[in-house]
Amino acid sequence: MHQPVGKLLLFGATGDLAQRMLLPSLYALHADGLLPEGLTITGTARSDKDDQSYRDFARAALDEFLPADRKDDNAVGSFLERLNYQSLDASQIDGFAALKDKLGDISGGLAIFLSTAPWLFGPTIEGLKSAGLTGDNVRISLEKPLGKDLQSSCEINDLVAGAFPEDRTFRIDHYLGKETVQNILALRFGNSLFEPVWNAQGIDHVQITVSETVGLEGRAGFYDETGALRDMVQNHMLQLLALIAMEPPARFDGTAIRDEKVKVFRSLRKISAQEAPQLTVTGQYGGGAVKGEIVRDYASDLEKPSNTETFVAIKAHVDNWRWQGVPFYLRTGKRLGERRSEIVIQFKPVPHSIFADRGGMLQPNTLVIRLQPEEYVRLLVMAKQPGLDREGVRLREVPLNLSLDTEFAGTRRRIAYERLLLDLIEGDPTLFVRRDEVEAQWTWIDAIRAGWEANDLKPKPYASGSWGPSAAIALTERDGVTWNE
Ligand code: BG6
Repeated sequence: MHQPVGKLLLFGATGDLAQRMLLPSLYALHADGLLPEGLTITGTARSDKDDQSYRDFARAALDEFLPADRKDDNAVGSFLERLNYQSLDASQIDGFAALKDKLGDISGGLAIFLSTAPWLFGPTIEGLKSAGLTGDNVRISLEKPLGKDLQSSCEINDLVAGAFPEDRTFRIDHYLGKETVQNILALRFGNSLFEPVWNAQGIDHVQITVSETVGLEGRAGFYDETGALRDMVQNHMLQLLALIAMEPPARFDGTAIRDEKVKVFRSLRKISAQEAPQLTVTGQYGGGAVKGEIVRDYASDLEKPSNTETFVAIKAHVDNWRWQGVPFYLRTGKRLGERRSEIVIQFKPVPHSIFADRGGMLQPNTLVIRLQPEEYVRLLVMAKQPGLDREGVRLREVPLNLSLDTEFAGTRRRIAYERLLLDLIEGDPTLFVRRDEVEAQWTWIDAIRAGWEANDLKPKPYASGSWGPSAAIALTERDGVTWNE
């Protein structure tokens, strides 16, 4: 039974995520009447502010990051009244008593959102413990990065587990809050059409692309320590893969869905050091032009040479009955030609073509699930071109289109954090990542990194504005597969 809390405590309340995502999302929930009545939001960070100056700060963030048509002066005013602020140096345990005083009575439940540098997790948890802010009615949400490999992720998980049991720990992967990502479940399990062919008999291969046009976006230090594999594949891309590959869960709930996802992560075929050069490609952006704008190479953006990958492509396999022999090609990168997140399901060709003698060429069916920037599901099917066909049957691939943008025009798209913050406040863990999932993800990722190190693989340069290094094209072409571009 989910239990809404009466208070929300934001660590990192003056940070970038708070300004861009958390405050606008909380405002949107408030404006739509979705926050529990009386819910108060306490911000905390090192900056020296009081309630009023934090409200001013929040107002400025809303002015900057909320679309003008979403802002309603009355709603902004009543939203700001929910906010208060306590400055705190989380590395100093003494300050937590004052934080507790500021929160006051938490018998109605408290949700804590931790969006701080990972090195502050330890002191913060200790501080919360010392102030008695870890009781049964307190839950905690953690933002990435949650470690950089299995070991460091286990350390963080152990630390958190020392204060909060797993059922009160909500790990964020913001991709799971995206409407279109949840739509994968609706498509697969809300329709009877796909499931019978959703396996190695029906599907030839799967492609998952998350391409970005942005570069370092002011996070040079963090990104250079992290790289594309840990920043995007370990979390977002593997979550997408799991939603595509998982067995049908018995129910739409946190346990059933996460049980099925973790089985997928555990079934990922480990990429050995020997295979790493064949099954993975890394790249680093060079100079070039993205959407008509000249951009610099990675080393210039970073102001030093580096071997960090800004692009990665992987040929993965899920070793279970359903997916035997079906490659999952993943690729993601920064400074690519287009911002696009999509999943392409390529079905098997028909077993026998009746059109071959009449010159008709068939393409296997393709299902394209475009997650962003547009939102659509497109099934490519063969159709006969109009005409008398005296010289043979002319067939063409045509799209059956479900545009979510058009179909649900007028329904505002909520950003991922609206959904996730509401679920945190209400206590629904379904769209949060469980510890066993994270650990199985890291296990697979660590083996890839070990393979790169063993082979001393360096990222290949690629021009900004392209689709990555040519080796990424070769990765699929070797199997007779072309990336959907
Ligand atoms: C974050 C990564 O988790 O996801 C960023 O750290 C990346 O590097 C971002 O840009 C992409 O998210 P979205 O929602 O814009 O696709």
